[in-house]
Amino acid sequence: MAIYTDKISVEVSKTSKIENVDFSDLTFGRVFTDHMFVCDYEDGKWQNPKIMPYQAMTFEPSARVFHYGQAVFEGMKAYKDDDGKVFLFRPKQNFNRINKSSARLAMPVFPENYFFEGLEALLKLDSDWIKPGVGNSLYLRPFVIATEPAISASPASTYRFMIICSPAKSYYNSAVRVLIADHYSRSANGGVGAAKAAGNYAAQFYPTSLAQQKGFQQVVWTDADTHTFLEEAGTMNVFFRVNDKLITAPTSDRILDGITRKSIIQLAEDLGITCEVRQITVEEIKNAAKDGSLKEVFGAGTAAVISPISAFEHQDELFEISGVDAEDSYAKLFKQTLLNIQHNLSEDKHGWRHEVK
Ligand SMILES: Cc1ncc(COP(=O)(O)O)c(C=O)c1O
Repeated sequence: MAIYTDKISVEVSKTSKIENVDFSDLTFGRVFTDHMFVCDYEDGKWQNPKIMPYQAMTFEPSARVFHYGQAVFEGMKAYKDDDGKVFLFRPKQNFNRINKSSARLAMPVFPENYFFEGLEALLKLDSDWIKPGVGNSLYLRPFVIATEPAISASPASTYRFMIICSPAKSYYNSAVRVLIADHYSRSANGGVGAAKAAGNYAAQFYPTSLAQQKGFQQVVWTDADTHTFLEEAGTMNVFFRVNDKLITAPTSDRILDGITRKSIIQLAEDLGITCEVRQITVEEIKNAAKDGSLKEVFGAGTAAVISPISAFEHQDELFEISGVDAEDSYAKLFKQTLLNIQHNLSEDKHGWRHEVK
């Protein structure tokens, strides 16, 4: 890989929007900080890394991203402890994953030093936007788009990598009701399900809106071939607690390799909780719901951290999950354990915290 040594240039915003933001009443992803990081790929290399005031950008209507969806992204968070120290959670995983996504979409991989230098410089400039306190965070959205103005269906020769930041409270705070897919699919064998490709999300909006009309916030996707195996939700991996055992689907080229998911699998081991990573059939979970052994279902992902699931429907059969509010739920245990690590409130024995100095 080429060695990238350009210094990141910084243009500081003359004004700040922060005074106008009500941090106690944030809608996810609507407010953005004062700065953003931008780097362009041209002539076969990434160049001109810069931090600049957050602003609208212009692209030609023929930019390939608008036509062929050559776009990938990441979702990660920065946290502040009560001493004002800023932390990222397992950021190398996000770095590796965005490049894996890019490679799948025939896009150039981004250099590690620019990723971390850009991110850290941005966080230092916009540090006031990260509020201390468990539940507060700054959501970070690195993404890459194909900018070349040309509408032939082939990979672009120019790209833009950017990072924008949005203050957040964890969303889906209350339990969600989900519909198990039996017709539409999110991804297929050999497809792009394991990539954080923009089009994966667009493809879910229509079936999810149908589920929402029926009173369900999310869809839990099943395998495209048979719709018999449970896979993941729209922006979350899913865990099932049957009696005291956790089960989650294995990753594959259809499922996003979630960082929260892999952290929970590790934490379960640390806490002495059995966690099976294996295929799970819809039938198995319906039977467990019927015989009372299904104690909990929850989603896991950066945005929501852990999101308890209170009910699921499959082919017009509705199942309510009674243990969802239990004080000793695994969902609460894992959420608190993760938040404590993220906010520097507990020991970090796996070295997951990354301090931004
Ligand atoms: C499809 C999908 N699955 C799972 C996840 C959870 O992944 P992570 O825990 O890395 O946020 C996300 C969110 O990034 C997602 O978009």
